[in-house]
Amino acid sequence: MSNLIVLGAQWGDEGKGKIVDLFSEKFDAVARYQGGHNAGHTVFIGSQKFVLKLIPSGILRPGVLAVIGNGVVIDPAALLEEMSGLEAAGVDVKSQLKISNRAHVIFPFHRTIEKISEGRENRIPIGTTSRGIGPAYEDKIARRGIRVADLVDIEFEGLYRALAEDKQLIANAFQISERVNFDEILSQYKRLADQMRPLTCDTSHLLNQMIREGKSVLFEGAQGTMLDIDFGTYPFVTSSSATAGGACTGTGVPPNKIDGIIGVSKAYITRVGAGPFPSEDQTEAGEKIRRAGNEYGSVTGRPRRCGWFDVPLLRYTAEVNGFDSLIITKLDVLDDLKEIPVCVAYEVDDKVITYMPASTRRMEAIKPVFEYLPGWRTSTQGVTSLTQLPSAAQRYLRFLEEKTGVEIGSVSNGPERSETMIVPGSKLEKLLD
Ligand code: GDP
Ligand code: IMO
Ligand code: MG
Repeated sequence: MSNLIVLGAQWGDEGKGKIVDLFSEKFDAVARYQGGHNAGHTVFIGSQKFVLKLIPSGILRPGVLAVIGNGVVIDPAALLEEMSGLEAAGVDVKSQLKISNRAHVIFPFHRTIEKISEGRENRIPIGTTSRGIGPAYEDKIARRGIRVADLVDIEFEGLYRALAEDKQLIANAFQISERVNFDEILSQYKRLADQMRPLTCDTSHLLNQMIREGKSVLFEGAQGTMLDIDFGTYPFVTSSSATAGGACTGTGVPPNKIDGIIGVSKAYITRVGAGPFPSEDQTEAGEKIRRAGNEYGSVTGRPRRCGWFDVPLLRYTAEVNGFDSLIITKLDVLDDLKEIPVCVAYEVDDKVITYMPASTRRMEAIKPVFEYLPGWRTSTQGVTSLTQLPSAAQRYLRFLEEKTGVEIGSVSNGPERSETMIVPGSKLEKLLD
C-alpha cells in the first residue's frame, strides 16, 4: 500500500475532506501537515455532517490513527472543542489522535494582532479567517514561538512570560489600547496543556516507524496550492506550505517515502477572501454556481467567490506539486448549465501568456480567454460510473484532462462517500490498491 498526499489544486474548499474520508479506509494513518483551524473539511456520513478543522478527517474511521504534524499551528481551545464535538458523536478521539510535540501553539493575542493588522489604515485586507494563523506562523519563523513540547513542559510559564513580554512591548510601541490579560491566558493554557499532554509525542518518529513496519499514511493537505505561502497569489495567501513539499517538512516523513501526489479540484473554481481571481464570474451565472454548490465558507460562513475551471492555474499547480492524478469534485453542480466556460489562457498587457505571473499587479491584469463547452442539462446524481455520465459531461472531463495534461483519476458527483467514481485502470486506482 502506498503513502499518498491529497491536497487542494485551487484556492481551497475543493472537497479534500470528503476525499480523504473516503480514502482513509485504506490507510493506517492520516496526517495533517500545515495550517490550523482555518481549514474546514466537510464530511457526510449518511445524514451526519462533520466539519473537521484541526483534526485529520481520518479520525472518522475507527482504527485509523489521526496525526497532527509539526507543520500545523494549534489553538488548544479550538482543538479541545473539536475533540469534544467528535467524542459526543461517538468517535474514540483519545485513542486515535496524536499531536506533534513540535507543532506551534496559537494564543489569543495572535488573533488580536491579526485583527489589528487586517484593520490597519492603508492596508488591503487579506480577508483572513481571523484565527490567528498568520501571527502564529510569524512567531515560528521569528524563532520566538512556543511549541507543544514547551506547552506541556514544566518550564512553560517562563517561556510564555518571555513571549508575552515581547507582545506587550509591541503593543506599547504601537500604542495599542486593547488589553490582553496575560495571566488569565497562562492559567487557561496550563489547564489545556494537561488535557493535551497524553496525546503528544514525536509524530515524525511515529509515522516513520509505521512506514518501516509496512503501514501506509495519507497526508491531508489543508487550504490549496494558490493559498501556499510561496506559490500562491502572494500576499493573498495563508502562511503555510500547502503544496506537496509541505507534507514532508510538516510531518518529518522524507520525500522518498511518498508514493503519489493527488490533486483535488472542483469542476469549476471558488475562492474565499481577497486577491486576484482571473476566471471569477460576478454575473448571475456565478451566483447560480454559488447557490447550486452551496458555496459558503465552512469555517466563516462567508459567500465564496465563484468562477470557471482555470486551465493555466491547474497546469501551474500540477507542476509545483507533481500531481500523479486529479480528482474532479462537484461535477453535479454544473448539471443545469446550458454551456460551461473554461478559462484556457491568460492575456496580460495584450499578450497571451502560458505561465502564472508572480506579481499581484499582473495577476489582477489577467484577462481570461474562455472556451465554451456544451452543458448536459441533466442530473448526474446517482451515476456510479463514468461511462454512464451524459456524453457532454464525459466530453467536458476529457477536455480538462487534455488541457491540463493530468489524468483524471476520479470524479465526485455529490457530497456522500458513495458519490465518487474511480476511473478503472487509472494511476489513482493503482495507487489506492
Ligand atoms: P475542503 O475544505 O476541501 O474539505 O472542502 P469543504 O468541505 O470546505 O467544501 C466542499 C463542500 O462541497 C462541502 O460542503 C462538501 O460536502 C461538498 N462536496 C464535496 N464533494 C462534492 C460533490 O461532488 N458534489 C457536491 N454537490 N458537493 C460536494
Ligand atoms: P480548507 O482547508 C479556503 C483563506 C482565507 C484568506 C487566506 C488567509 O477548508 O480548504 P488565513 O486565516 O489562513 O490567514 O487566511 O486564506 N483560507 C481558506 N480558503 N479554504 C481554506 O481551507 C482556507 N484557509 C484559509 O479565506 O483568504
Ligand atoms: Mg474547506
